[in-house]
Amino acid sequence: MVFPDYRPRRLRRNEHFRRMIRETLLLSDHLIYPLFVVFGKGVRRPIPSMPGIFQLSIDEAVKEVRECRDLNIPAVILFGIPDKKDEKASGAYAADGIIQRAMRTLKEKVPEVLLIGDVCLCEYTSHGHCGILSGNEVDNDATLELLARTALSQAKAGADMVAPSDMMDGRVAEIRQALDENGFEHLPIMSYAAKYASSFYGPFREAAESAPQFGDRKGYQMDPANAREALREVTLDVEEGADIIMVKPALPYLDVLCRVREEFDLPLAAYQVSGEYAMIKAAAQKGWLDERSVVMESLLSIRRAGADMILTYFAKEAAAWLQEKR
Ligand code: PBG
Repeated sequence: MVFPDYRPRRLRRNEHFRRMIRETLLLSDHLIYPLFVVFGKGVRRPIPSMPGIFQLSIDEAVKEVRECRDLNIPAVILFGIPDKKDEKASGAYAADGIIQRAMRTLKEKVPEVLLIGDVCLCEYTSHGHCGILSGNEVDNDATLELLARTALSQAKAGADMVAPSDMMDGRVAEIRQALDENGFEHLPIMSYAAKYASSFYGPFREAAESAPQFGDRKGYQMDPANAREALREVTLDVEEGADIIMVKPALPYLDVLCRVREEFDLPLAAYQVSGEYAMIKAAAQKGWLDERSVVMESLLSIRRAGADMILTYFAKEAAAWLQEKR
């Protein structure tokens, strides 16, 4: 069927038709909201490069998670900023670490929202790398045990799911084993399976105070040029026992997301990262883009490319807009 017999505009003429034939839906059910938690009380410290996002003390985090519940957002992911950093990232797996405390409180005060623990060491190491150093390199195998310890301590503190973001080889299996041996065989793992060494993480590193003190993360995170390698990375994590796989960042990597969707049937997440958020916010503040429509279009694009769920700093705003629409 070709023009003039076929006229695609027939089904675009009004919103009723458009609604009826829409292929992709975005619901608040698909959103996960990231939170940065710090020690203290009444702390709500703005992050300059991420307008609307704050470092929050636990009492303030409780308020945010209640808001998420009321907006029908099913889950939050927690990042912790410790008061002391050291070579071994002790704060990441301390029983009274910032994340562990936050989880215990949030689980008690807002049990309706799932708590995901980001499992990584970079916020907790004095050098800002995602693992234990041996010389100037991150020692993969020496790091695994600490990652497993971190995941287990989060599980004990009430995490509903753990999400390793460090990109060490073999970490999913190591975490799975530690969880299983300690009675957490029911706890799912969401693995940052294809995580790129991206410059779009800049604002996050300000928020989480986790910038590497020397060098970069190219020795463990993926090369932005590689897509086939992403499929191998995902295969490994699936074989090691990941329950949900993730591609990160989102918008610059929609092709990767789409290929992972085609090859794998596990639930798939995408992380719309801090730099993606910052770009839209900055352009909106200058009046160069319409924030609401650009945010919704970007989230819809990520869903269209194949993501089941989206980790996004826009989660609360998007969920509120979705409520309005109904
Ligand atoms: C921790 C981690 C990072 C992000 C999520 N987990 C930073 C990094 O790898 O440097 C980035 C998230 C964002 O930019 O929003 N390793």
